Amino acid sequence: MNILLIGAPGAGKGTQAEKLSQLLALRHIASGDLFHKAFEEQTELGLKAQRYVDLGELVPDEITIPMVMLHIEEPESMQGVILDGFPRTLAQSQVLDAELLRINRQIDLAIHLKVSREELLSRLAGRVFCQVNQHVYHIKFRPPKVADRCDLDGSKLYQRPDDAGEAMRRRLVIYFNQTFQVLDYYSRQNKLREVDGNSSIDSVQAMLLSVVNDYTGRETRV
Ligand code: AP5
Ligand code: MG
Repeated sequence: MNILLIGAPGAGKGTQAEKLSQLLALRHIASGDLFHKAFEEQTELGLKAQRYVDLGELVPDEITIPMVMLHIEEPESMQGVILDGFPRTLAQSQVLDAELLRINRQIDLAIHLKVSREELLSRLAGRVFCQVNQHVYHIKFRPPKVADRCDLDGSKLYQRPDDAGEAMRRRLVIYFNQTFQVLDYYSRQNKLREVDGNSSIDSVQAMLLSVVNDYTGRETRV
């Protein structure tokens, strides 16, 4: 099974995909995390992409599409994937479909995690990551046990630079301008499902699981 999680910056894609991937035994592939990792490793791709990420702009398709496709075609992805943050444009959706068809696979569900603008702003403003493994917290909604330290590896927590100021505003504008085309594309294929992402992490997870269970006819539980 291959699932897309579509949602605005701060909607909870990463938070939910991490849990769902464990429950459903699907690989979680997040385009933003891949860019971050490539930058940390100072690869040519990472350095090129970072210029766009810092400004809150989309990284060009000729960099983004091959990077994500490479991960989808790896052996660890053969049992299925949850894509988080990709596709974000109509062109990315079309190439993804064509490339999947080539390897006899397809997108099963495109789930739209819908969150109000006010909630997005407060999620982004309070989000912090750990320096070592990028574990995600929120100072109010998912606080670490010890202030400023990761529960899992003890490393210091930091705020993503593009979660504030002009870059954050740019990301929201681009999302609302571009992504309706992606929603429309999957809606025409009857693959689009909508989930209200405004409630607690656990209740959003339960709603997502119920969408997947409806589709598979099986009963995976939390
Ligand atoms: P990316 O990293 O994908 O950023 P994004 O799409 O803007 O999404 P976020 O990661 O900010 O939000 P999320 O939905 O994962 O929320 P999270 O779970 O962390 O992309 C970064 C950049 O890379 C882009 O700007 C672009 O430059 C580039 N890029 C990436 N993909 C690209 C593509 N396909 N094409 C071109 N360029 C691309 O949750 C947010 C916070 O809220 C956390 O603190 C969390 O603890 C909290 N939270 C989560 N759920 C809840 C809840 N239900 N209740 C309360 N708090 C919650
Ligand atoms: Mg994310």
